[in-house]
Amino acid sequence: MPDADVAPLPPSLRTELLVDGSWRPGASGRTFEVLDPATGGVLAEVADATPQDGLDALDAAHRAWPAWRATPPRVRSEVLREVWERVTARTDEFAALITAEGGKPLSEARAETAYGAEFVRWFSEQAVRITGTVRTAPSGANRQLVLRRGVGPSLLITPWNFPLAMATRKAAPALAAGCPVVIKPAGYTPLTTLLFADVVREVLAERDLPLGVINVVPTSDAAALTEPLLRDPRLRKLSFTGSTQVGRTLLRGAAQQVLRTSMELGGNAPFLVFADADLDAAVEGAMVAKMRNAGQTCVAANRFLVHESVADAFAAKLSAAFGELVVGPGSRPGTSVGPLIRPSAVEFVEQVVADAVDHGATVVHGGGRPDLAGYFYNPTVLLRVRPDATAVTEEVFGPVAPIVAFDDEAEAIALANATPFGLVAYAYTRDVDRAFRLAEQLEAGMIGINRGLVSDPSAPFGGMKASGLGREGGEQGIEEYLETVYVAI
Ligand code: SIN
Repeated sequence: MPDADVAPLPPSLRTELLVDGSWRPGASGRTFEVLDPATGGVLAEVADATPQDGLDALDAAHRAWPAWRATPPRVRSEVLREVWERVTARTDEFAALITAEGGKPLSEARAETAYGAEFVRWFSEQAVRITGTVRTAPSGANRQLVLRRGVGPSLLITPWNFPLAMATRKAAPALAAGCPVVIKPAGYTPLTTLLFADVVREVLAERDLPLGVINVVPTSDAAALTEPLLRDPRLRKLSFTGSTQVGRTLLRGAAQQVLRTSMELGGNAPFLVFADADLDAAVEGAMVAKMRNAGQTCVAANRFLVHESVADAFAAKLSAAFGELVVGPGSRPGTSVGPLIRPSAVEFVEQVVADAVDHGATVVHGGGRPDLAGYFYNPTVLLRVRPDATAVTEEVFGPVAPIVAFDDEAEAIALANATPFGLVAYAYTRDVDRAFRLAEQLEAGMIGINRGLVSDPSAPFGGMKASGLGREGGEQGIEEYLETVYVAI
């Protein structure tokens, strides 16, 4: 039973599995609780998919594949366009769910709805632009046709920090490319993804298209559900967003069938501020790069590398900006920083701050938990953190900004690259030559120059090194769901 102290959820709420167009309980009849991180209260009980439910979902996706891949690209495009319109029209419902189960402030949840919906619109436009090539072989002996076709049934494993946008970033290109999907949403935040799938199901049903094109199997045991799916030859593709550790396990599982994989894994983003930077602009960018979803994003600025000559000034300005933030439940008007996802996340942030202080850092703003019921931590600025402190070496996923001072550009680049991760890097400088040197030398799949936000559905999102494989969004996003077939004629 949901708790009385949590906000009422939209009547459209879906809490069962979606398999082959039908809402149904899991084979075991069991459910698991979805919590509100702002209160710790139970929001809903959701059907708990078993491995057999996962296989049923794959079976449905596989059966829907021939009809879906034969559906004209224009029709697939129109389905997605219609989904974009309906999700956008229901922004209030989506935002309420995102805030309820994920905790982020309503303003951010509305922004996520627009961001998530935009992946659907973008890929509705890409569905009709899947092209191949033809040319005469250099020998003149034959022609070479290069065709693109959908890879097939795809398993999409999505994280809790953007329950709409990470589902749409994967499902929209898959559907555009003619690939039916099985989505395994994060156990913490399945409700938003279930509502999104309901919108897709509704549009498919109205057009008499195969309903097995989208299936959703929330579960409390992701490893058990995933394992047989990865061994099943009907599965052709795995896309995952989450930690590098889980990504490695999935890659090992995917190796059995040599599955196509896309991996959007951990980050440890450096945010460089040079002596010539506009410090006010840098602080404005830092607020976005650090504080979106209370620091719980893979692209969150994790380490602030600031030139020694401006480190104190930057710390003072950043602390002043942090001082303006209002910590509280995301549904409360005026809140700008919501809770962390679970108590373990708060405990980790506490350890990180204590470790930084042990390593000689000074807490110049914040520290500690506010006096609130849920899983909160105060926005915190740490100055003169040593590069070997956990706050710098590990992805913190919380509202903590550790500042490390550097002396020159070469040291800044070396510090920025001194991590196994390479998702994103941010840099503030007014020197155009330096900006180009950074673009060429920073080891990251995405680089923000004088910008604290790089995420954009029309641009390729993804990392290098241990941050993953492949790209989502942009022209590249649909490539992840396409095979290349060369025909010699
Ligand atoms: C993520 O945290 O994985 C995604 C963040 C984004 O898309 O901006």
